[in-house]
Amino acid sequence: MPEDVPHVIQLAPSVLSADAGRLADAAAQVEAAGADLLHIDVMDGHFVPNITFGPPVVAALRRATALPLDVHLMVRDPEYLVDACIDAGADVVTVHWEAVTHLERLLAHIRLRERLAGIAVNPATPISLLAEVWDECDWLLVMSVNPGFGGQPFWPRAIHKVQTAHERRGGLARPRIAVDGGVDDSTAPQLAAAGADVLIAGSYVFDGQQPAVRLANLRRAVTPALPPP
Ligand code: DX5
Ligand code: ZN
Repeated sequence: MPEDVPHVIQLAPSVLSADAGRLADAAAQVEAAGADLLHIDVMDGHFVPNITFGPPVVAALRRATALPLDVHLMVRDPEYLVDACIDAGADVVTVHWEAVTHLERLLAHIRLRERLAGIAVNPATPISLLAEVWDECDWLLVMSVNPGFGGQPFWPRAIHKVQTAHERRGGLARPRIAVDGGVDDSTAPQLAAAGADVLIAGSYVFDGQQPAVRLANLRRAVTPALPPP
């Protein structure tokens, strides 16, 4: 990216931390507050020790908001769910490197369906393991917690991992680098400086003050100060 082009960061609130009985309201609220995407965590109770949403909830959120839907599949062998999530309205479909046997084929399938194909990596998975599928990846999700729950402490080595991924892509815009877990107004600037493009935040957005206030804090934290006139 040329030096003089500002690095625009996208903010993706994760509805995992929203009131599960009022997800549509949460989606409308963050859309009105200027979110760029809506992050939806699908968990199967096998790949991670928690169970959350499936395609019907993705479809319900599709009806509730015009925001692009970023679906994060924390499920073992996610092949069986990808088409259902796309049919339900997912714009980005991310599967875990650790959960898929035939990753290249699955990424190609997601692209064939004209959605962004994402790979998520757990903290223990190095970026180097993605070498053979790097060109097939539109969206790289760097996990900065071990997945499964909101509200966990940020894993600081994720910053180095984002830097590694950013260097690996050189000046190219793809893959987009997203970070998920422990994002708040103190970790966000470090991640932005390391090269992240998309910051996903659950508990920081939904567990405290008004989501609009938290999103504004995040936006401020990743927006370089304008030079004096
Ligand atoms: C965790 C999920 C995250 C979660 C992040 O496994 O993938 O999307 O919502 O929550 P916070 O921002 O609270 O760490
Ligand atoms: Zn997630």
